[in-house]
Amino acid sequence: MSIFRKKSIEYLLQQAGEAGSLKRTLTATSLIGLGIGAIIGAGLFVRTAAASAEAAGPAVTLSFIIAAVGCLFAGLCYAEFAAMIPIAGSAYTYAYATMGEFAAWTIGWALVLEYALGAATVAIGWSEYLNNLLGGAIPFQWCHSPMETSAAGVQGILNAPALIVLLLVTALLIKGTEESARINAIIVFVKVAIVIGFIAIGWQFINPANHTPFMIPDGMAGHEGIFRHGWGGVLGGAGIVFFAFIGFDAVSTAAQEAKNPARDMPIGILGSLAVCTVLYVLFGHVLTGVANWQEFATAGKEASVAYAIQKYMIGYEWLGTMVTVAILAGFTSVILVMLLGQSRVFYSMAKDGLLPNLFCALHPKFRTPYKCNMLLFVFVGAFAAFIPGSMAGDLTSIGTLFAFVVVCIGTWLMRRTDPGRPRPFKTPLVPLVPILGIIICSGMIISLDNRTQLTAFLWMIFGFAIYFLYSRYHSKLAGE
Ligand code: ALA
Repeated sequence: MSIFRKKSIEYLLQQAGEAGSLKRTLTATSLIGLGIGAIIGAGLFVRTAAASAEAAGPAVTLSFIIAAVGCLFAGLCYAEFAAMIPIAGSAYTYAYATMGEFAAWTIGWALVLEYALGAATVAIGWSEYLNNLLGGAIPFQWCHSPMETSAAGVQGILNAPALIVLLLVTALLIKGTEESARINAIIVFVKVAIVIGFIAIGWQFINPANHTPFMIPDGMAGHEGIFRHGWGGVLGGAGIVFFAFIGFDAVSTAAQEAKNPARDMPIGILGSLAVCTVLYVLFGHVLTGVANWQEFATAGKEASVAYAIQKYMIGYEWLGTMVTVAILAGFTSVILVMLLGQSRVFYSMAKDGLLPNLFCALHPKFRTPYKCNMLLFVFVGAFAAFIPGSMAGDLTSIGTLFAFVVVCIGTWLMRRTDPGRPRPFKTPLVPLVPILGIIICSGMIISLDNRTQLTAFLWMIFGFAIYFLYSRYHSKLAGE
């Protein structure tokens, strides 16, 4: 029984066409919406200021471009696969077809870090912003994990708002992908409008002095490390804002629900990446122009965007409240797409026998994997309610980067092992683009801190145990 057994693409495509499978309802526009829904969130509204204060200064705009280039290489590879194998499950499915079952399991398990932990992280952020909007009305113990204690010595019990938002999103997902995509479209409209509004109104408040010098100068106190000033700082900033791009790959998890995947998947993946990159660079330019980047290390550290508006954009204080509302809406759609992605990965793994059947049981009326959604709520909810958000963000990044590396390797491998297969979308300059994707993403994995790497490693060991004790024997390919 080989752990390298592969699924043929013919078999994959046939599986997708079987009666009783997911409905094909998504158009190119709704796919771009899904992408933007997953992309713009805590990364933009929280990490832009952090990256400029800690590493890049006003040159955070360049950090966005570098992170976007890394994502573009992986995104091009994703687009080739998603158009060629339009099946739910994303990187997991591609690995199954190219590198075999064990690699597929490994990647599926890593994707849990990206999607499930990503959703938990953003739900925790959502809770913080809600409390901020309500002027701190939620008692500390009901919006923090038991591992956190306030300055006044109050210990957290559970993060109730994070649980509530997860529950609402789960209910929406069970109701149907089409409904979820419609609500997502409204949220995306609101959040993009606010981002554009901030850029347009903030532009006139840019103080050119805040942009000089453009990079953090050498020898500045508190910026001693290589990745904390100058060009090194720009790279360090790219690592920090990478989180802001996570999610474009979630578009590929919905490939089985796309009406015309061959055309629409590349448009959905690359289109959402392009729109967000432009918005991010402009947003970073305005934010570091309105307030000085050094303020983001001190007074403007929390709710940095609202801080910049309230302090410098006189006459537009109302925009600060709207930004907070948009952030709440924005975080909701990130959670929605992350949970959608996770349930579709589990759906595919269960269809293949690697997870128990209940993960792919469809609701008789809504045709969504409702049992999987409910279980996920319990799992993600437990993280969101009882664990602080700090570590989860980096774990999300490591899981995502790992998936990107595997997809780049898979694209290259598949070109060699199956060159004749029709590819509605072709990644340009293979193997150069996949190789650059592998190098940049591996570099970012190495640059993450040791504690995150160790936690991710332990998570993978746990996954291997499940594979060798359960999945290997229950696989639909067992016996081959
Ligand atoms: N890109 C998503 C965010 O920034 C994960 O919230």
